[in-house]
Amino acid sequence: MPDDPRRQPGRGLTRRHLLLGGAAAAGAGAAGAVGLGLAAELAGRPQPAPDPAPAIVPFYGEHLAGIDTPPQAPAVFLALGRLMRVLTDDAARLSPGRPALADTEPELARIPRRLTVTFGFGAELVARAGGAAPSWLGPLPAFTVDRLQDAFSGGDLLLQIAADDSVTVAHAVRMLLKDARGFATVRWSQRGFRRAADSEATGTTMRNLFGQVDGTANPQPGTAEFEETVWSSGAPDWLRGGTGLVLRRIAMDLEGWDRVDRTAREASIGRRMDTGAPLTGTLERDAPDLEATTALGFPVIPAYAHLRRAKGPERIFRRGYNYDEPVGGAEGISDSGLLFASFQADITRQFVPIQRRLDELDLLNTWTTPVGSAVFAIPPGCAEGGYIGETLL
Ligand code: HEM
Repeated sequence: MPDDPRRQPGRGLTRRHLLLGGAAAAGAGAAGAVGLGLAAELAGRPQPAPDPAPAIVPFYGEHLAGIDTPPQAPAVFLALGRLMRVLTDDAARLSPGRPALADTEPELARIPRRLTVTFGFGAELVARAGGAAPSWLGPLPAFTVDRLQDAFSGGDLLLQIAADDSVTVAHAVRMLLKDARGFATVRWSQRGFRRAADSEATGTTMRNLFGQVDGTANPQPGTAEFEETVWSSGAPDWLRGGTGLVLRRIAMDLEGWDRVDRTAREASIGRRMDTGAPLTGTLERDAPDLEATTALGFPVIPAYAHLRRAKGPERIFRRGYNYDEPVGGAEGISDSGLLFASFQADITRQFVPIQRRLDELDLLNTWTTPVGSAVFAIPPGCAEGGYIGETLL
């Protein structure tokens, strides 16, 4: 493989910050516990199919996978340096369950379980590449609710790695980082999770750690509304077919939430805790009636309710994950929250007005605090033989 970029490790590569996202889910301790060593078996050879039918999300295509893909159980967000050819090769091999080149644990690659690797470029990376940045690429405006920490913010290159199996995620993270090492440094790493893949019927809206049904009013992948909301249709040209990602780490005060009764919990959102239905309806998907009033003349969905404040003409596609860090300290207070991830074609026009309204008024702010914030341009997908970022780099 004379054009294998791994054989010319210095070519076209700049040393940059790398943001590593942690693997998710169910206590699985992600990457690590595997010995290093020279790969005896180079990838590329067809591998025997594993017993459980491999669930494969195609890597190549018009858009990157891991956006309109139904969310997998665990996910990892990473940001790295500019190693796009090597990383594309890794992702393209691992997605259908083939070992990466020089995979030291090829057995771990063979159960892809809908593995997706989604890349994102920060403002600095786009600037260094000499490309035109979309106007929204860079830190968000400051919001009064923000208590942002560097440890969860910014970054030049992001990897979101997700699969319905934590071992698959851990292995993919390790392979990608091994190839990035030496050219990039990890800036942060965040792990998120949802319910395990088989716990609920496909298409069930996720619950966050407050117990709320979270994600109901979301455009559905495959619809015209989704296409319009998410995929960039130009400006800058290299981003056509890509999108914008806002990743906010939002801490949730579960101890405080414990002191809130069910009625107040439901009022804070404007939806029921059991079904997720709006307080003016009976089914999750019923349209909320913001005009409805009680016998006393108060709005059924209060003025401060998250639903009322978030609802507007702007559309975003939320695809978040819960987080729950290992409990430290003898008191056993959890460090939990939401890795709020939203995809939209134009962050300034779509995300920012919503966040502004929530910043002004939203009862949910009582128990939630944004502690991390990062914005990335997600490039379009590529065809076989190409690489992610080729329209820019
Ligand atoms: C920890 C923080 C948050 C929690 C726990 C949370 C929870 C929820 C819940 C339970 C719903 C109702 C069900 C649904 O439609 O998904 C909702 C709706 C929504 N949230 Fe949040 N949310 C959070 C932060 C945010 C942020 C930061 C934004 C954007 C700036 C946002 C935007 C929205 C939007 C647009 C809706 C749908 C409104 C509608 O059209 O009905 N949320 N959220």
